[in-house]
Amino acid sequence: MVDSTVVLHNNYKVNKDKYKIHINQHLSRFTIGNCELPDGIILAPMAGVTDSPYRRITRRFGSGLLYSELISAEGMRRMGVKTFELARFHPDERPISIQLFGYNPQSFANAAAIIADKLEPDIIDINCGCPVKKMVRRDSGGYLMQFPELIGEIVEATRKASGLPVSVKLRSGYRVSEETASTAAIAAVDAGASLIAIHARYVTAPWSSNADWSVIKRVKEAVKQIPVIGNGDVQSWEDAERMKEQTGCDRVMIGRAARGKPWIFQSPNKNDEKQWEPSSHERINILIDHYRMMLEYIPEYRAVCRMRKHFGWYTKGLPGSSTLREKVMRMENPTEVIKILEWYRDERLKE
Ligand SMILES: Cc1cc2nc3c(=O)[nH]c(=O)nc-3n(C[C@H](O)[C@H](O)[C@H](O)COP(=O)(O)O)c2cc1C
Repeated sequence: MVDSTVVLHNNYKVNKDKYKIHINQHLSRFTIGNCELPDGIILAPMAGVTDSPYRRITRRFGSGLLYSELISAEGMRRMGVKTFELARFHPDERPISIQLFGYNPQSFANAAAIIADKLEPDIIDINCGCPVKKMVRRDSGGYLMQFPELIGEIVEATRKASGLPVSVKLRSGYRVSEETASTAAIAAVDAGASLIAIHARYVTAPWSSNADWSVIKRVKEAVKQIPVIGNGDVQSWEDAERMKEQTGCDRVMIGRAARGKPWIFQSPNKNDEKQWEPSSHERINILIDHYRMMLEYIPEYRAVCRMRKHFGWYTKGLPGSSTLREKVMRMENPTEVIKILEWYRDERLKE
């Protein structure tokens, strides 16, 4: 019989068959549970931004694995209506991971069982990085980075209750210079995690400095047998390639640079010297499509309000866009918004 045990440093042992991870690192192909991890760059989960319409727009351009917005394990355990609404996704979004936050392994287990039964995502992700005070004060999100063992317990509880593959999204550590990412990754893998994402910044300094990619390299070295997603300050395909080269990570995740720029996921052709950028005209067409999808997704008034921030991101830097933005921000009728966008595209952006 082939022994499929892998020994990591610190003497942690992992049985890769047990966790259904089939690896052919040469081809960079990974099968996690029933799905193959797509090649594409991954859209980072961003609460309030990466809802289903936006995720689907990025998928058109080739984004890889998708994540839901942040979902409360406790809210899911109680089967809250709003929590369910936040967790819903479209079949086009597969493979998709539902991201949970919380701190109590039992709540994760209860929530995971419900998710597996009612939503059947491809993966369940545990958020171990959110720095928002409200979250950290409740011992959740980034607070968990101080307690790798608890992360392991949560992974195990979630995996056993759902029967689904489980991933974790980590930060470098909680307090600056107290790096716990590799230990947390090892604890997660030991408990059966199939995938690790690491945002290379500390929880207590969420945005203050540049991401330190060397942490991603250490995490990859610690959990070689599991796909690792690197994250932090990637703004282009060139950056993504550089991150892969420097750290050995298997996939790259982009957050802020994808706002208003879903085409960032489009891979350049071999002959292209530069990443594809849409013309200003095409940019407005993509925004209109996004607008229409949002209108189908949630009630009209909410859709109009939610699209305002996207509108700002999409039109940044376009000629005359600040006047256009001022007008649109005051509008409440979506038909009028789309009309003014079409007028702007045809009259101001003649191409
Ligand atoms: C507005 C906003 C909301 C975010 N929400 C989440 C979240 O819900 N879950 C999560 O794991 N990370 C969240 N993040 C962190 C991102 O997923 C990502 O790790 C971070 O932005 C670093 O990547 P970047 O440098 O490419 O932006 C959020 C970031 C931003 C800017």
